[in-house]
Amino acid sequence: MAFPVDRPRRLRRTETLRSLVRETRLEPSDFILPLFAVTGRGVRKPIGSMPGTAQLSVDNVVEEARSAWKAGVRSIILFGIPDKKDAEGSAAWDANGPVCTGFKALKDALPDMALIADVCLCEYTDHGHCGPLERDARGHLAVANDRTLPLLAKAAVAYAQAGADIVAPSDMMDGRVAAIRRGLDEKGLQETAVLSYAVKYASGFYGPFREAAESAPREGPKDRKAYQMDPANVREARREARLDIEEGADMLMVKPALAYLDVIAEVKRITDLPVAAYNVSGEYSMLKAAAAKGWIDERRVGLEILTGIKRAGADLILTYSALDAARWLQDLA
Ligand code: PBG
Repeated sequence: MAFPVDRPRRLRRTETLRSLVRETRLEPSDFILPLFAVTGRGVRKPIGSMPGTAQLSVDNVVEEARSAWKAGVRSIILFGIPDKKDAEGSAAWDANGPVCTGFKALKDALPDMALIADVCLCEYTDHGHCGPLERDARGHLAVANDRTLPLLAKAAVAYAQAGADIVAPSDMMDGRVAAIRRGLDEKGLQETAVLSYAVKYASGFYGPFREAAESAPREGPKDRKAYQMDPANVREARREARLDIEEGADMLMVKPALAYLDVIAEVKRITDLPVAAYNVSGEYSMLKAAAAKGWIDERRVGLEILTGIKRAGADLILTYSALDAARWLQDLA
């Protein structure tokens, strides 16, 4: 018998054979498109560090979501940029703000689209932290965990009442899934699902998002390391995931995605809940920047990144490339 006997290359010879044995397939319905809503009409203000994305007024949010729907994307997640910020982030639950009015308009225009609300206060606080600041016992300014919880619940209720199907807390306060679940149930919103950013790291990859959402810390602690997770930890990821499962989360998220593929796989291993991964702003910006320089092929590398995230165990992927990728997949089909 000719050596070698075992020849994996036999199944790689043609695209048809490769396709027969392909283990992971991307579909447009795997993607969740993040959008940034601002007040006004006809606003489309490009975000410099994230080419192809923009701050959008509600009319343009609806148009962007409609394009995504037509391309097969079934869900969007909305972030709000308010006109006014304060110490508590009270614009977060403003029923007349861009997020709540955005959800109402989206429900009317695209009744079947799954609408997700990011629940966090950092876009709404004047200091840029994810909850109100308070001096701790030693006089240091820190985000007040327990004072933040009812505010998050209030925001979640406002988004659900405006039409959000799913609320997604991204603040990393302890106990927030339970607080939000209780807040929703008390208002008769038992049907609203909670997608917890259960495993969210203190990551440098959020840099471009903070420009987009105008949410970088400006006062108090200079970063979010005292509430978001240390990038070095994976056992702690299991602990965070388990806590959120116990508190009643319907889905779990790992964020960022690319430097955390092992964490996605680990969370998937310990839960039967759907697992989402956030292909965050810095990951998107790196792809765009290298492609703009002609150093990589955006389409090929973009699909490879998304395939890798799905192969690691993500059932859903939040990605700024959602619309592009949905179109790339149709071209390939
Ligand atoms: C809000 C929030 C952030 C992101 C999603 N929700 C930023 C942060 O924690 O500073 C990041 C998303 C991205 O980088 O694409 N807390």
